[in-house]
Amino acid sequence: MERLTIAIDGPAGAGKSTVARRVAQRLGYLYIDTGAMYRALTLAAQRRGVSPHDEDALAKLARALTIAFAPDGDGQRVLLNGEDVTDAIRTPAVTADVSYVARHPLVREAMVEKQRELAKNGGVVMDGRDIGTYVLPKADVKIYLTASIDERALRRQREMEARGYRVDLETVKEEIAKRDRLDSERAVAPLQKAEDARLLDTTGMTVDEVVEEILAACRTRGREG
Ligand code: DC
Repeated sequence: MERLTIAIDGPAGAGKSTVARRVAQRLGYLYIDTGAMYRALTLAAQRRGVSPHDEDALAKLARALTIAFAPDGDGQRVLLNGEDVTDAIRTPAVTADVSYVARHPLVREAMVEKQRELAKNGGVVMDGRDIGTYVLPKADVKIYLTASIDERALRRQREMEARGYRVDLETVKEEIAKRDRLDSERAVAPLQKAEDARLLDTTGMTVDEVVEEILAACRTRGREG
């Protein structure tokens, strides 16, 4: 079977990572979480005292960093210059800055180059905000995942609680709405559904149901045997 390139985009909390990881597992593909890449850069910047508004310094840092993914049981670890930062990139401090870091054109240029390199041999599921529209416009399968803001906030709250953070639902909702706005309104590669992406509203759907729909979309792609 041909090794496909699958792009999954959508707003914060739509369930992209969970679903993308599972689809990759089922197909034996590599899963590339581009949000984790922007988060790793944000963490590196915070540690070095680089401002999330200093485009040149951030772009330089992005080019100098090595970001890699290593499979780990059901999930995967994120490695920043070889250091395991899987948990460190999910703190509220990183989440608060990442949309600012990801706004700069020069930063995106450096990150997109890394992303295309990782995807160049196919057999990948890549998730993010601009994968189907910009990073991999020729992806074989494009999915745009969304869900109501209430459901997305609930999912994010559960995810944070599982990591040991107590968070108020209204605060999570405001944080998600703010990130949606920043990600959708930025000038370069904003969050947007690609014209040829399949829209999947996951409100009320289980993870299994979403995964099956995406696998079905892969099978009906025509070029596949
Ligand atoms: O999916 P996430 O919450 O881990 O993403 C973190 C941030 O990174 C998000 O606010 C927007 C940004 N991002 C982006 O601009 N482009 C991508 N392809 C992926 C994420």
